[in-house]
Amino acid sequence: MVISEKLDKFFDEKMKEYPTSRSFLVPMLLYSQDEVGFISDEVIAHLAKKTGLTELEVRNVISYYSMLRTKPAGKFNVQVCTNICCMLRGADELFEHCKSKLGIGHKQTTPDGVFSLEEVECIGACSWAPAVQVNYDFHENLTPEKLDAVLEGYKKNE
Ligand code: FES
Repeated sequence: MVISEKLDKFFDEKMKEYPTSRSFLVPMLLYSQDEVGFISDEVIAHLAKKTGLTELEVRNVISYYSMLRTKPAGKFNVQVCTNICCMLRGADELFEHCKSKLGIGHKQTTPDGVFSLEEVECIGACSWAPAVQVNYDFHENLTPEKLDAVLEGYKKNE
């Protein structure tokens, strides 16, 4: 089984609440990613079969959402928004700071597997720009110094 039996049963039950199985695809991808660590070829094949979609259709959905990934990431996935609101409030500097602090670039993972870094489009926190998302946590109104404290907090809890 590419995902746990428990998760697969949960999908079967939950899918009944949606108008079509396709409507439940994004949540299934997220749950699978959380369990497996990324969306593997096997997960794609499994969910395609489950929803009656082709693997290409599932891959097209994955490629649209920056929170879905097909490769393993670090324990803490740091997503720096550099879209317009964040850009106007120093996001480029923040991203450069992250690259130098972690020693990695866009879509790379630190050798110890603790952090991954990504430059992403708007994450919906424009009013509190510049914003960074780490896994499911949002961090807003950041400066390089505040971001250092955020990253150190995660490092302590690894
Ligand atoms: S532009 Fe960065 S959160 Fe919207």
